[in-house]
Amino acid sequence: MLFKQQVLLRQKLFVLGSLAIGSLLYLVARVGTLDRLQPICPIENRLAPPGLADQISLRTLQYKRSLLHELRKGNATKEQIRLHNLVQQLPRAIIIGVRKGGTRALLEMLNLHPAVVKASQEIHFFDNDQNYARGIDWYREKMPFSFPHQITIEKSPAYFITEEVPERIFKMNSSIKLLIIVREPTTRAVSDYTQVLEGKERKNKTYHKFEKLAIDTNTCEVNTKYKAVRTSIYTKHLERWLKYFPVEQFHIVDGDRLITDPLPELQLVERFLNLPSRISQYNLYFNATRGFYCLRFNIVFSKCLAGSKGRTHPEVDPAVVAKLRKFFHPFNQKFYQITGRTFSWP
Ligand code: A3P
Repeated sequence: MLFKQQVLLRQKLFVLGSLAIGSLLYLVARVGTLDRLQPICPIENRLAPPGLADQISLRTLQYKRSLLHELRKGNATKEQIRLHNLVQQLPRAIIIGVRKGGTRALLEMLNLHPAVVKASQEIHFFDNDQNYARGIDWYREKMPFSFPHQITIEKSPAYFITEEVPERIFKMNSSIKLLIIVREPTTRAVSDYTQVLEGKERKNKTYHKFEKLAIDTNTCEVNTKYKAVRTSIYTKHLERWLKYFPVEQFHIVDGDRLITDPLPELQLVERFLNLPSRISQYNLYFNATRGFYCLRFNIVFSKCLAGSKGRTHPEVDPAVVAKLRKFFHPFNQKFYQITGRTFSWP
């Protein structure tokens, strides 16, 4: 009896021991495989070209982000740049405008995509004659380091309204993709005014009321000489661009929807840029204090846009608002017709 119990106990111990050793061997083998994977299969080679890059793992993403972050801070060595085949690339897409349309939010949100790298500053290469005279290599050097298969994007909203820019961009790359983010034109004009007003107030300067600038006091008509009004006549500016680029090379982003429900707008841009859909609801969370969506890159890193984005607008005389809306109406219709994107602007 005792002998039988001892045999059973020994058998149990043997099975448990085998299981423990088996698990241990499995773990060792797995860790070994992971370690070996790194040099055999360098991260950048696993990033397929845009359109094909369908499986970019979370580990890859985090690794890539931290490396590029170090680069941005100027901490990466020449050796790392060489090792990872990093390059400064001319943009393959540009957010050309419109000022106060949500250009910063769009750029930052697109930067959530693992295949996108943003130029953090507005470069003003094509709209500033002095910068333009510095040449294309100066422009390229302003671009962030990226993996060869990533897309660099820059934004300079002044491009949209500056006469010389379409031809200059065309000369750099005639097949570049162009993004335009628009808001309801009167709201955009008020936002534009608010930004200038804030600048004046900061310098303790007085400034006219919006109504005085937007309406010509002699004729009581809309003052088309006022820049904030002119910028909102989207179709006029777009027509200049269409002398150089076919309409298919433009994508219109709804700036009003980017504020209230950004994800569908971002998914449309991903499609336009031939990128696999990677930005998800996880990356965007509504911050009630800010009253806007903020960005979540991963479990530790999230951010909202600066306080200069999302200012409180001054109250505008409803009669002036109505007049402006009536004024913009025919231009809006033309804009819808040309772009194929219709908005419910009044
Ligand atoms: P307001 O300040 O009028 O609200 P731009 O970056 O082109 O200057 O545009 C600024 C506008 O971006 C802001 O205009 C704001 O409404 C809009 N915006 C869109 N999404 C935003 C976000 N997630 N956070 C802050 N502002 C956002």
